[in-house]
This record gives sequence, C-alpha cells and structure tokens, in this order.
Amino acid sequence: PPLSTILNLHDFEAIARQVMADKAWAYYSSAADDEITNRENHAAYHRIWFRPRVLRDVTEVDFATTILGHKSSMPIYITATALGKLGHPDGELNLTRAAGKHGVIQMIPTLASCSFDDIVDAALPGQVQFFQLYVNKDRKITKRIVQHAEKRGIKGLFITVDAPQLGRREKDMRMKFDAEDPSEVTQAGSEGVDRSQGAARAISSFIDPGLNWDDLKWFKSITTMPLILKGVQCWEDALEAYDRGLAGVVLSNHGGRQLDFARSGIEVLVEVVDKLKEKRGLTFPHEKFQLFCDGGVRRATDVLKAIALGATAVGIGRPFLYAYSAYGPEGMDRALEILHSEFEMNMRLLGAPTIKHVVPSMVDTSNIHTH
Ligand code: FNR
Repeated sequence: PPLSTILNLHDFEAIARQVMADKAWAYYSSAADDEITNRENHAAYHRIWFRPRVLRDVTEVDFATTILGHKSSMPIYITATALGKLGHPDGELNLTRAAGKHGVIQMIPTLASCSFDDIVDAALPGQVQFFQLYVNKDRKITKRIVQHAEKRGIKGLFITVDAPQLGRREKDMRMKFDAEDPSEVTQAGSEGVDRSQGAARAISSFIDPGLNWDDLKWFKSITTMPLILKGVQCWEDALEAYDRGLAGVVLSNHGGRQLDFARSGIEVLVEVVDKLKEKRGLTFPHEKFQLFCDGGVRRATDVLKAIALGATAVGIGRPFLYAYSAYGPEGMDRALEILHSEFEMNMRLLGAPTIKHVVPSMVDTSNIHTH
C-alpha cells in the first residue's frame, strides 16, 4: 500500500508483518516467553489519562528539547536495535540519515549490522549520536570499543544492564540463524558466537553476566562520556545509579525481550520519580541525572505522558525498524513526520506551548500501582 495510507506508527507494523522476510519479522517482533511484557508495554500507557489545561495561547507550539545537553527536535530518540540489515540492505544507515534530517538522536547498537564507523561516517556534521554497549567478558575488547566511540565523537554511553543473558524469544528461535547471510555480519566485540538458537542467542554469547555495580568505576576511568544504565526496572537501582554518579537511567525492559512479567518503563518511571524525590529531594526533569524510558511508545501522547512525569525523552525502537523495512528511507521520513504532527496537535490540545509546560499535574496516574 502507498505510504500515504500510513496514518500512525501502528500502521507500519501491520504492513511490515506482510512484507518482511519471515526471519527478519521473527527477530524484530519477537519478545520473551509468552510476550506478556511486550503487550503490557503499550497497554500501560492506557492507564494514564490527561488533565489538559485550556485558554492558553497555543498558536505556536515548540516541542524541541535537549537530551544530555544536546538539541533534539522532539523529546524522543531512536533507541538501539541490533541487526538493522535484516529488514533493509542499508540497515542502521536508514536511521542515521533520518535522524540527521529530522534533528533527532540515534543510539547506535553494539550489534549493528553496519560497521560502527560507517554509521558515524553517515552522520551530518554536528549530528549527535549515542552508543549502546554490551559489555564483553574480555574487557580489553570493551575498552577498545568504548574508547573508539569516544574518539569518534559519541556523546553518551548507554550500558545495557537488563541482558546478562538474552531472553527466550521463541518466535526467533524457530527460525534458523544463517551464519552465511551477509546481512547478519556484525562488528568485532561479538567474537565467539553460538549460532544454534536463533539470531538473538547467536549474537549475544559474548555478553558478560558477571557485570556488576563495582565495574562502573572502571567505565569512569576509561571514558569521559556520560554513562547511562539502560534497562533499570525499579527505584532501588535508579537510586543506586544516582548515588554512584551516573548521568541517568533508561527505565526499560528491552522491548519485552528479556524477563517476561517485567513492568513497563512508564510504570517504573512513576515510582522512580516518586522515590528519588522522597529519598534525595530530586525533581525531574533533572539536568545532572536524566530519566528516560522506552517500550511500547507508538504515539506522541505516550511520549507526552512520560515527559509530564519527568522523563527527559523517550526511546522508540520497533516502529522505526518496521518503517524502513517496509518503505526504506521514505518510511523513516513518514514515521518522523507523523510523530512531529502528533506532537504539534496534542501539545495544543493539552494546553502546553513548550515542553516545559508539560508538567505532572497534566497526567492522572492514580491507576498506576507503585512500590
Ligand atoms: C532491541 N533492543 C536492544 N537493546 C539493547 O540494549 N541492545 C540491543 O542490541 C537491542 N536490540 C534490539 C533489537 C530489536 C529487534 C528490538 C525490537 C529491540 C531493545 C530496544 O533498545 C528498546 O529497549 C525496545 O525496542 C523499546 O521497545 P519498542 O519501542 O521496540 O517497543
């Protein structure tokens, strides 16, 4: 169907399912076990309602913001998703180019299909990129990757902490991972892979399950990039990250691909904001310790709920994969234009002329249970 029939981010998923190769669809869409968390991620947003304000001048609305001090045209970023070439021959470069064109930030995955340097080279001058890190058992490899990223101008290091082992994604496991397929060639750092159990397992066997809080000192000693933990799922760990001087946390369950029955990022955000205020007197958004969430974000209204609660920005994964897998670069343009027009309309309807006006009193979270 022509791109003009795509009206929202959900539509890309429906088309992608029809047109993508089975193996690619299985890897992108799959989630852990019974996929309960994957469904909950979006459903959780249904429990939060708006309390809009009226009679405010919303002739002009401006939803530009800053993320870790860097400009973004919208309060979203393109989160890290592995194996970009499964869906389209240009892989992650589709994301890089669209990010540059539309003024948003891309988080480059450790397990990109394109080489890290090709992804950095595809960025426009001054275009900001972040890097998602899987920590290798061989710390020499990790050190090399991190220091190279910093040298190439990466502005934030997102260490994935919710994947000491990869979750059981049965849809993906049923597909044989073909080691000969050039679309699956990944970069150094994934040496020594086990290819017997689907794409996800195959590429992740190098990840160190021994990674722990004491390792964070070492990361601080090898890089000056801001360090953010990706995959925090309760206030206790968010507080620990704050106390250890990190730059922020991503409240995330990895798109439902790790522990099934993990709570949604938006639900965890509610308790983290609450408890960090109670325990350390913090209010959000906070410049020195930024909160992000991801998982199931499909509408600007989802994003605005997270922003109202105190998130700096929100990550979006699968919708962009589906957009470029089905329609190439034009699909990415359309996806970002849809979000853009949704922000404009919904900020008007919310009575918020700028992101600063999107405040906690604009959401009702009484249906969210916290700890
Ligand atoms: C991911 N995600 C992910 N996260 C990470 O830290 N390293 C990775 O390599 C990957 N790879 C990956 C592949 C695919 C196909 C998906 C769908 C997701 C998780 C990702 O960063 C993010 O947490 C979720 O994708 C957010 O949920 P949505 O937006 O996809 O619903």
